[in-house]
Amino acid sequence: MTSERPGGTVKLGQYEIARIGYGAMQLEHVDTAAAGALLRRVVELGVNHLDTASFYGHTTVNEHIRAALHPYPDDLVIVSKVGARRVDAPVPLVLAQRPEQLREQVHLDLTSLGLEQVPVVNLRRADQGPGLIAEGDQVVPLDDQLAELIALRNEGLIGAIGLSNISTEQLEQALPAGIVCVQNAYSVLDRSSEPQLQLCAADGIAWIPYFPLGSAFDQIPSPTEHPAVQEVAAHLGATPAAVCLAWILAHNDHTALIPGTRSIPHLEANLQAASIHLDPDALATLDAIAV
Ligand SMILES: NC(=O)c1ccc[n+]([C@@H]2O[C@H](COP(=O)([O-])OP(=O)(O)OC[C@H]3O[C@@H](n4cnc5c(N)ncnc54)[C@H](OP(=O)(O)O)[C@@H]3O)[C@@H](O)[C@H]2O)c1
Repeated sequence: MTSERPGGTVKLGQYEIARIGYGAMQLEHVDTAAAGALLRRVVELGVNHLDTASFYGHTTVNEHIRAALHPYPDDLVIVSKVGARRVDAPVPLVLAQRPEQLREQVHLDLTSLGLEQVPVVNLRRADQGPGLIAEGDQVVPLDDQLAELIALRNEGLIGAIGLSNISTEQLEQALPAGIVCVQNAYSVLDRSSEPQLQLCAADGIAWIPYFPLGSAFDQIPSPTEHPAVQEVAAHLGATPAAVCLAWILAHNDHTALIPGTRSIPHLEANLQAASIHLDPDALATLDAIAV
Protein backbone atom coordinates (compact mmCIF):
# COMPACT_ATOMS: atom_id res chain seq x y z
CA MET A 1 0.00 0.00 0.00
CA THR A 2 1.35 3.36 -1.08
CA SER A 3 0.27 5.07 2.14
CA GLU A 4 2.48 2.76 4.20
CA ARG A 5 5.68 3.87 2.53
CA PRO A 6 7.81 6.27 4.58
CA GLY A 7 7.23 9.77 3.22
CA GLY A 8 4.77 8.50 0.58
CA THR A 9 6.03 7.43 -2.82
CA VAL A 10 7.60 8.75 -5.98
CA LYS A 11 8.02 7.15 -9.41
CA LEU A 12 11.42 5.71 -10.24
CA GLY A 13 10.89 4.70 -13.86
CA GLN A 14 8.33 1.89 -13.73
CA TYR A 15 8.73 1.50 -9.95
CA GLU A 16 6.92 3.20 -7.08
CA ILE A 17 9.46 3.81 -4.33
CA ALA A 18 9.24 5.18 -0.80
CA ARG A 19 10.32 8.82 -0.65
CA ILE A 20 12.56 7.82 2.23
CA GLY A 21 14.81 4.99 1.11
CA TYR A 22 18.11 3.74 2.40
CA GLY A 23 21.68 4.28 1.17
CA ALA A 24 23.74 1.22 2.06
CA MET A 25 27.26 2.62 1.64
CA GLN A 26 27.90 2.86 5.39
CA LEU A 27 27.40 -0.92 5.73
CA GLU A 28 30.85 -1.43 4.25
CA HIS A 29 32.11 -0.87 7.80
CA VAL A 30 29.97 -3.39 9.70
CA ASP A 31 29.84 -7.18 9.94
CA THR A 32 27.25 -9.41 8.32
CA ALA A 33 25.17 -9.78 11.49
CA ALA A 34 24.93 -6.04 12.16
CA ALA A 35 24.26 -5.27 8.49
CA GLY A 36 21.60 -7.99 8.37
CA ALA A 37 19.78 -6.63 11.42
CA LEU A 38 19.76 -3.13 9.95
CA LEU A 39 18.66 -4.20 6.47
CA ARG A 40 15.81 -6.33 7.82
CA ARG A 41 14.66 -3.34 9.89
CA VAL A 42 14.82 -1.15 6.76
CA VAL A 43 12.39 -3.46 4.95
CA GLU A 44 10.21 -3.97 8.03
CA LEU A 45 9.73 -0.18 8.23
CA GLY A 46 8.28 -0.08 4.70
CA VAL A 47 11.38 1.12 2.83
CA ASN A 48 11.48 -0.49 -0.63
CA HIS A 49 14.40 1.40 -2.19
CA LEU A 50 18.01 0.39 -1.45
CA ASP A 51 21.00 2.16 -2.96
CA THR A 52 24.23 0.20 -3.30
CA ALA A 53 27.31 -0.36 -5.50
CA SER A 54 29.63 -3.28 -6.16
CA PHE A 55 32.52 -1.03 -5.09
CA TYR A 56 31.22 -0.50 -1.54
CA GLY A 57 33.90 -2.78 -0.15
CA HIS A 58 34.92 -5.65 -2.44
CA THR A 59 31.19 -6.29 -3.10
CA THR A 60 30.85 -6.35 0.72
CA VAL A 61 27.67 -4.30 0.84
CA ASN A 62 26.01 -6.22 -1.99
CA GLU A 63 26.80 -9.45 -0.15
CA HIS A 64 25.31 -8.05 3.06
CA ILE A 65 22.14 -7.21 1.14
CA ARG A 66 21.96 -10.66 -0.40
CA ALA A 67 22.63 -12.42 2.91
CA ALA A 68 19.96 -10.41 4.71
CA LEU A 69 17.17 -10.15 2.15
CA HIS A 70 17.47 -12.78 -0.62
CA PRO A 71 15.03 -14.05 -1.88
CA TYR A 72 14.00 -10.44 -2.22
CA PRO A 73 10.49 -9.12 -1.55
CA ASP A 74 8.73 -8.49 -4.89
CA ASP A 75 8.41 -4.78 -4.20
CA LEU A 76 12.05 -4.16 -3.26
CA VAL A 77 13.93 -1.94 -5.75
CA ILE A 78 17.70 -2.34 -5.52
CA VAL A 79 19.59 0.42 -7.31
CA SER A 80 23.28 0.15 -8.04
CA LYS A 81 25.90 2.29 -9.72
CA VAL A 82 28.81 1.83 -12.10
CA GLY A 83 31.88 3.90 -12.86
CA ALA A 84 34.40 2.77 -10.24
CA ARG A 85 35.89 -0.44 -8.95
CA ARG A 86 37.52 -1.63 -5.80
CA VAL A 87 41.18 -2.57 -5.77
CA ASP A 88 43.66 -3.36 -3.02
CA ALA A 89 45.42 -0.59 -1.10
CA PRO A 90 47.01 1.98 -1.16
CA VAL A 91 44.12 3.59 -3.09
CA PRO A 92 41.13 1.29 -2.55
CA LEU A 93 38.86 2.84 -5.17
CA VAL A 94 39.74 3.58 -8.82
CA LEU A 95 37.64 4.77 -11.70
CA ALA A 96 36.26 2.23 -14.19
CA GLN A 97 34.48 4.40 -16.75
CA ARG A 98 35.18 2.57 -20.00
CA PRO A 99 32.16 0.82 -21.55
CA GLU A 100 33.55 -2.70 -21.08
CA GLN A 101 34.28 -1.84 -17.44
CA LEU A 102 30.68 -0.69 -16.94
CA ARG A 103 29.54 -4.06 -18.27
CA GLU A 104 31.89 -5.92 -15.91
CA GLN A 105 30.46 -4.02 -12.95
CA VAL A 106 26.89 -4.86 -13.90
CA HIS A 107 27.87 -8.54 -13.98
CA LEU A 108 29.51 -8.11 -10.58
CA ASP A 109 26.26 -6.62 -9.24
CA LEU A 110 24.22 -9.48 -10.71
CA THR A 111 26.37 -12.20 -9.13
CA SER A 112 26.97 -10.51 -5.77
CA LEU A 113 23.33 -9.47 -5.32
CA GLY A 114 21.93 -12.72 -6.74
CA LEU A 115 19.77 -10.94 -9.31
CA GLU A 116 18.90 -11.70 -12.93
CA GLN A 117 18.39 -7.99 -13.57
CA VAL A 118 19.57 -4.92 -11.64
CA PRO A 119 16.39 -2.81 -11.54
CA VAL A 120 18.20 0.54 -11.97
CA VAL A 121 21.88 1.30 -12.60
CA ASN A 122 23.33 4.79 -12.16
CA LEU A 123 26.26 5.81 -14.31
CA ARG A 124 28.56 7.68 -11.91
CA ARG A 125 30.48 10.25 -13.97
CA ALA A 126 33.80 11.66 -12.74
CA ASP A 127 34.22 14.94 -14.66
CA GLN A 128 34.33 16.81 -11.36
CA GLY A 129 34.39 16.13 -7.62
CA PRO A 130 33.44 15.12 -5.06
CA GLY A 131 35.75 12.14 -5.32
CA LEU A 132 38.04 10.92 -8.08
CA ILE A 133 38.32 12.90 -11.32
CA ALA A 134 38.80 11.10 -14.64
CA GLU A 135 42.14 11.28 -16.46
CA GLY A 136 43.72 9.47 -19.40
CA ASP A 137 41.72 6.47 -20.67
CA GLN A 138 39.11 7.11 -18.00
CA VAL A 139 37.90 10.21 -19.83
CA VAL A 140 35.10 8.58 -21.81
CA PRO A 141 32.40 10.28 -23.91
CA LEU A 142 29.01 10.10 -22.23
CA ASP A 143 27.39 8.81 -25.42
CA ASP A 144 29.74 5.78 -25.50
CA GLN A 145 28.79 4.92 -21.93
CA LEU A 146 25.08 5.39 -22.61
CA ALA A 147 25.33 3.12 -25.66
CA GLU A 148 26.71 0.34 -23.44
CA LEU A 149 24.03 0.88 -20.79
CA ILE A 150 21.31 0.86 -23.46
CA ALA A 151 22.73 -2.45 -24.74
CA LEU A 152 22.66 -3.85 -21.20
CA ARG A 153 19.06 -2.69 -20.86
CA ASN A 154 18.13 -4.25 -24.22
CA GLU A 155 19.68 -7.51 -23.03
CA GLY A 156 17.56 -7.35 -19.88
CA LEU A 157 20.55 -7.23 -17.53
CA ILE A 158 19.54 -3.83 -16.19
CA GLY A 159 16.02 -2.49 -15.93
CA ALA A 160 16.63 1.23 -16.24
CA ILE A 161 19.38 3.86 -16.46
CA GLY A 162 20.19 6.65 -14.02
CA LEU A 163 22.98 9.22 -13.93
CA SER A 164 25.14 10.50 -11.11
CA ASN A 165 27.39 13.50 -10.64
CA ILE A 166 26.26 15.18 -13.83
CA SER A 167 25.76 18.67 -15.21
CA THR A 168 22.53 19.98 -16.75
CA GLU A 169 24.17 19.79 -20.19
CA GLN A 170 25.00 16.12 -19.69
CA LEU A 171 21.49 15.38 -18.47
CA GLU A 172 20.01 17.09 -21.53
CA GLN A 173 22.37 15.12 -23.75
CA ALA A 174 21.34 11.84 -22.07
CA LEU A 175 17.57 12.39 -22.02
CA PRO A 176 16.92 10.44 -25.27
CA ALA A 177 18.38 7.33 -23.57
CA GLY A 178 15.46 7.36 -21.11
CA ILE A 179 16.90 8.45 -17.77
CA VAL A 180 14.85 7.50 -14.69
CA CYS A 181 16.85 9.15 -11.90
CA VAL A 182 19.74 11.45 -11.09
CA GLN A 183 22.00 11.23 -8.05
CA ASN A 184 24.09 14.34 -7.35
CA ALA A 185 25.44 15.62 -4.03
CA TYR A 186 22.76 17.88 -2.57
CA SER A 187 21.53 18.99 0.83
CA VAL A 188 19.91 21.92 2.59
CA LEU A 189 23.43 23.45 2.66
CA ASP A 190 24.73 22.36 -0.76
CA ARG A 191 22.35 23.48 -3.53
CA SER A 192 24.97 23.59 -6.26
CA SER A 193 22.92 21.04 -8.20
CA GLU A 194 19.63 22.94 -7.98
CA PRO A 195 19.49 23.42 -11.82
CA GLN A 196 19.80 19.64 -12.29
CA LEU A 197 17.02 19.08 -9.75
CA GLN A 198 14.75 21.49 -11.60
CA LEU A 199 15.49 19.80 -14.93
CA CYS A 200 14.68 16.41 -13.40
CA ALA A 201 11.41 17.73 -11.99
CA ALA A 202 10.43 19.16 -15.38
CA ASP A 203 11.14 15.82 -17.09
CA GLY A 204 9.55 13.53 -14.48
CA ILE A 205 12.93 12.13 -13.45
CA ALA A 206 13.43 11.11 -9.81
CA TRP A 207 15.93 13.30 -7.94
CA ILE A 208 17.82 11.15 -5.43
CA PRO A 209 20.50 13.24 -3.75
CA TYR A 210 23.53 11.70 -2.12
CA PHE A 211 25.17 13.21 0.99
CA PRO A 212 21.78 14.56 2.20
CA LEU A 213 23.28 14.68 5.71
CA GLY A 214 26.68 15.92 4.57
CA SER A 215 28.22 12.43 4.39
CA ALA A 216 30.62 10.73 6.81
CA PHE A 217 33.57 12.68 5.37
CA ASP A 218 35.05 15.41 7.59
CA GLN A 219 35.85 17.76 4.69
CA ILE A 220 32.18 18.12 3.64
CA PRO A 221 30.23 20.67 5.71
CA SER A 222 27.59 19.02 7.86
CA PRO A 223 24.10 20.50 7.51
CA THR A 224 23.09 18.91 10.83
CA GLU A 225 25.59 21.18 12.61
CA HIS A 226 24.28 24.39 11.09
CA PRO A 227 22.80 26.67 13.81
CA ALA A 228 19.62 27.33 11.80
CA VAL A 229 18.98 23.59 11.38
CA GLN A 230 19.57 23.05 15.08
CA GLU A 231 17.25 25.93 15.97
CA VAL A 232 14.42 24.58 13.80
CA ALA A 233 15.01 21.07 15.19
CA ALA A 234 14.87 22.30 18.79
CA HIS A 235 11.67 24.25 18.06
CA LEU A 236 10.01 21.15 16.54
CA GLY A 237 11.42 18.66 19.05
CA ALA A 238 13.02 16.79 16.11
CA THR A 239 16.58 15.72 15.35
CA PRO A 240 18.72 17.97 13.13
CA ALA A 241 19.13 15.03 10.70
CA ALA A 242 15.37 14.60 10.34
CA VAL A 243 14.99 18.36 9.72
CA CYS A 244 17.62 18.21 6.96
CA LEU A 245 15.77 15.32 5.33
CA ALA A 246 12.35 16.95 5.79
CA TRP A 247 13.61 20.09 4.04
CA ILE A 248 14.66 18.06 0.98
CA LEU A 249 11.28 16.30 0.90
CA ALA A 250 9.42 19.60 1.19
CA HIS A 251 11.60 21.39 -1.36
CA ASN A 252 10.55 19.33 -4.38
CA ASP A 253 8.02 16.54 -4.96
CA HIS A 254 10.27 14.62 -7.34
CA THR A 255 12.77 13.89 -4.60
CA ALA A 256 13.46 10.55 -2.91
CA LEU A 257 16.01 10.18 -0.12
CA ILE A 258 18.75 7.64 0.51
CA PRO A 259 20.29 8.71 3.83
CA GLY A 260 23.10 6.42 4.92
CA THR A 261 23.59 5.01 8.40
CA ARG A 262 25.00 1.96 10.10
CA SER A 263 22.80 2.56 13.15
CA ILE A 264 19.26 1.24 13.63
CA PRO A 265 18.35 4.14 16.00
CA HIS A 266 19.56 6.61 13.35
CA LEU A 267 17.59 4.77 10.66
CA GLU A 268 14.45 5.01 12.77
CA ALA A 269 15.12 8.67 13.57
CA ASN A 270 15.64 9.49 9.89
CA LEU A 271 12.27 8.00 8.98
CA GLN A 272 10.73 10.56 11.35
CA ALA A 273 11.41 13.10 8.61
CA ALA A 274 8.21 11.82 6.99
CA SER A 275 6.09 13.28 9.79
CA ILE A 276 7.84 16.64 10.16
CA HIS A 277 5.86 19.62 8.93
CA LEU A 278 8.03 22.63 8.18
CA ASP A 279 5.89 25.76 8.39
CA PRO A 280 6.59 28.79 6.15
CA ASP A 281 8.88 30.39 8.78
CA ALA A 282 10.95 27.22 9.17
CA LEU A 283 11.14 26.77 5.41
CA ALA A 284 12.24 30.39 4.93
CA THR A 285 14.93 29.97 7.60
CA LEU A 286 16.25 26.79 5.99
CA ASP A 287 15.92 28.11 2.44
CA ALA A 288 18.31 30.91 3.37
CA ILE A 289 21.26 28.81 4.56
CA ALA A 290 22.57 27.45 1.25
CA VAL A 291 26.30 28.02 0.82
N1 LIG B 1 26.01 8.47 -6.57
C1 LIG B 1 27.08 8.68 -5.84
O1 LIG B 1 28.14 9.08 -6.35
C2 LIG B 1 27.05 8.46 -4.37
C3 LIG B 1 28.14 8.93 -3.59
C4 LIG B 1 28.09 8.72 -2.23
C5 LIG B 1 27.00 8.09 -1.65
N2 LIG B 1 25.97 7.64 -2.42
C6 LIG B 1 24.80 7.00 -1.81
O2 LIG B 1 24.17 7.96 -0.99
C7 LIG B 1 23.94 7.43 0.31
C8 LIG B 1 23.98 8.55 1.32
O3 LIG B 1 25.27 9.11 1.40
P1 LIG B 1 26.23 8.91 2.64
O4 LIG B 1 25.83 7.71 3.42
O5 LIG B 1 27.60 8.99 2.15
O6 LIG B 1 26.01 10.25 3.44
P2 LIG B 1 24.80 10.89 4.29
O7 LIG B 1 23.56 10.08 4.18
O8 LIG B 1 24.76 12.32 3.95
O9 LIG B 1 25.40 10.83 5.77
C9 LIG B 1 25.79 9.64 6.34
C10 LIG B 1 26.41 10.04 7.69
O10 LIG B 1 25.41 10.60 8.53
C11 LIG B 1 25.35 9.91 9.75
N3 LIG B 1 23.95 9.83 10.16
C12 LIG B 1 22.92 9.25 9.51
N4 LIG B 1 21.76 9.40 10.18
C13 LIG B 1 22.08 10.09 11.30
C14 LIG B 1 21.32 10.55 12.41
N5 LIG B 1 20.01 10.33 12.51
N6 LIG B 1 21.96 11.23 13.40
C15 LIG B 1 23.29 11.48 13.32
N7 LIG B 1 24.07 11.06 12.30
C16 LIG B 1 23.46 10.38 11.29
C17 LIG B 1 25.94 8.55 9.48
O11 LIG B 1 26.53 8.04 10.65
P3 LIG B 1 25.95 6.69 11.35
O12 LIG B 1 26.33 5.57 10.48
O13 LIG B 1 26.65 6.69 12.67
O14 LIG B 1 24.48 6.90 11.48
C18 LIG B 1 26.99 8.85 8.42
O15 LIG B 1 28.20 9.26 9.04
C19 LIG B 1 25.05 6.40 0.48
O16 LIG B 1 24.75 5.48 1.50
C20 LIG B 1 25.13 5.80 -0.92
O17 LIG B 1 24.16 4.79 -1.06
C21 LIG B 1 25.99 7.83 -3.77
